[in-house]
Parts: sequence; structure tokens; C-alpha cells
Amino acid sequence: MDQEALLTHGPALLDRLEEQAPDALLALIALHEADPRPDKIDVGVGVYRDAAGGTPILRCVKAAERILLETQETKSYLGSQGDVRYTELIKAIAFGEAAAGDERIVGVQTPGGCGALRLGAELIAKADPEARIFVGQPTWPNHAPLIGCAGVEMVDYPYYSKDSRSILFDRMMEALRGARAGDLLLLHGCCHNPTGADLGPEQWREVADLVSDRGLIPFVDLAYQGLGNGLEADAEGTRLVVAAAEQALVAHSCDKNFGVYRDRVGTLFVKGRTARIAEVALGNLMNLARTMWSMPPDHGASVVRIVLDDPDLRADWRSELDEMCARIRSLRGRLAAFDPRLDYIDGQHGMFSMLPLTPDAVLALRERHGIYMAGSGRFNVVGLSDENVDRFAAAVVEMMPEFADA
Ligand code: LMR
Repeated sequence: MDQEALLTHGPALLDRLEEQAPDALLALIALHEADPRPDKIDVGVGVYRDAAGGTPILRCVKAAERILLETQETKSYLGSQGDVRYTELIKAIAFGEAAAGDERIVGVQTPGGCGALRLGAELIAKADPEARIFVGQPTWPNHAPLIGCAGVEMVDYPYYSKDSRSILFDRMMEALRGARAGDLLLLHGCCHNPTGADLGPEQWREVADLVSDRGLIPFVDLAYQGLGNGLEADAEGTRLVVAAAEQALVAHSCDKNFGVYRDRVGTLFVKGRTARIAEVALGNLMNLARTMWSMPPDHGASVVRIVLDDPDLRADWRSELDEMCARIRSLRGRLAAFDPRLDYIDGQHGMFSMLPLTPDAVLALRERHGIYMAGSGRFNVVGLSDENVDRFAAAVVEMMPEFADA
């Protein structure tokens, strides 16, 4: 652009963009790929790995894909709500069979749990541009951008101390008592990401009481149902707070519990005070989805629907899911048994745990041992294999001298 044009129009549109750092978590995938060391260990992004270190497609998913291939007659549009039968089936899984007919809860299929979180944030901002959401710290690093993008104000509350390796429940409740009626409360339904530290049943009950006493609106992220304590147990906290609230949002994902990560299979559920209000919310969700992705991708949701609608495939899914859950628990047990400094890991749930390590220690683990984990010290427990779990434990314990006498 010449000088005169520059003065008249300013810099060209795309020249105004600033360089962005890549997403730190996703960047780990490429860094690990590029490392030539054969004994490198990837405990970065949250993906299930079996004993052989692979992330195979579930048997039930393969079977459903074959059925889909043979029976699907059209790829014509479904509309912004996505696959309605899929959403109906997930509603019963998330809220229980008894709630399946509750017309105050409506759902929209979304591109993964991220899509559900973003859609929920857009709905909140549309209903109330002044809305605030209380977010426990630490939380999944993508929560803030996903919710913040929609312009919802975020207020931090303390949740977990990585140094004491425990939930700061009293401090959490004290902070939440400062919330006003109509404030939103972001909660992890199970398998807390990034810490693995979940609220216990009694703590969930206290949160549910607070929600109902103060008129708070829970926004639950339920992305790992079935990978902590089992399918039903993992939804108990969510069901409790949703039942206690007049209004609620739940971002559900099947990406992990069906192992269909790249197919992006999620749902946003919204509970309104009445069936009529929920129906209006559904219309708003569909309009908002239309402005973002128009319609969700179909393949993964169709596969999940086929599995859940077929008693044999559903039973197979349950056993494959239980197998994944058992493997996670056994790796947690192995780590805890290795050294008393790691024993807290056994009492936690899901794929993640957070080590009390500094970013420098995390970097040293990568450089010296080829261990790839998030800078926060979060690691994917099930990224470990039976062969490398002890080597991993030895390397991280060596980095925790401050707990030498623990
Ligand atoms: C994770 O936290 O590792 C997963 O939820 C993957 C992601 O999208 O960040």
C-alpha cells in the first residue's frame, strides 16, 4: 500500500492482526510428535489410552458406524437443533430416566462440549448483558475464553490448592455466599479438569442448598461422565444442583465417554422455570446456533444415537466405558503406591491430576525425560502405559523435593 493510501485508509485489514500464541495445551501435541526420543511420554491433552498406548475406536462405535453406512438414506439438513433423538437419549443419561420427560429441560446438539459451553454463554449474555458467572480456580484453560468471548463477566472463586493438594471447600463456600440471586455458578460435574479433585456427596448437597437458598444458576460442565466413578455416580452432583435450581445449564460431551473426540459430539441442556419458558429458551438456542455453526456435525451424534438405541450396543458401550474407567483407576492406584507423595492421586477421579510442580520443573521433565504435561502441572493419568508409569512417577517425585518428608 502506498503512503497516500495508508494515510487515507490506515493499514490493510489483515495487517492489523496481532500474532497469537498457539493454544498451550494443543501445542503440546505437536511438541511431543516432534520429539525423536522413543521413550517419550505424552500426558498432555486429555485423551484415553489403552495398555498398548493407543486410542482405538470403541467396538460399539465401529459397529454403529457400519450400521450408519448401510442404513443412512440422506445427508440432507437436520436443522439447528441437530439430532433430536440423540439429545433425548443423552438427556436421560445426564439427568436420569425419571427426568427424561421433564419439559422444563430442553437440549440442543452442539459441536462438542466447547460448542455447548459457548452456546450457553451466548444465551446468558443475550438474556442479561450484565450477567456474572462464578468460576472456580483453577479451571480448564478454555473456560475463560469460551465464556468470556460472549461477554459474560467472570468472578473467580478459590477451588483447589495444588500445594496442599486439596479442595478449598470452606473458602469456596465463603466466596459463593457473596454471589447475588441470578448469578451463574460454573461447576465441573465430575472428573475435575485440571485437578481431578471432585466434590464429595456431602459437599454437593451443601452447594445445592446454597444454589436454592440464594437463587443461583448452576452452569455444569459434564464432559467426562462415566470416567470417574461410573455413569450414574458421575451425574449425581449435577442432578442434585439442577434439581435444587429453578434455572440451570448443563454442557454435556460424549467426546470422551464414547472416544469420538474429533467428531465433536456435545449437547447443551437448559432448564427453565416452566416448560413454556424452556421452549422459548430452545428457540433462542437455535437462533444463536444458526449464527455460529448453523447446524452441528451429524456423524458422531448419529453413531451415539445408534449405540444407545440398540440394547446390545448399549450394553457393549457400558462395558467398554467401565473398562476405561477401571484402567484410569488402576493407574491412579499404581501412582499412589509408588510414593507417599503421590497418594492423593488415588482419591481423585477421571483423566487428570495436578502435580505440585513449578513451570520450570515441568519444563525440566520435558527436557530431561521427554515427559510432556501442561505448564500448570496437570497431567493425563491415562496417558501413561503399564510400562512407563513407574518411570514417570520416579521422575516427577524427584522434582518434588519440598515434599521429601511428606
Ligand atoms: C483437555 O483438557 O485436555 C481436553 O478437554 C481437550 C481440550 O480440548 O483441551
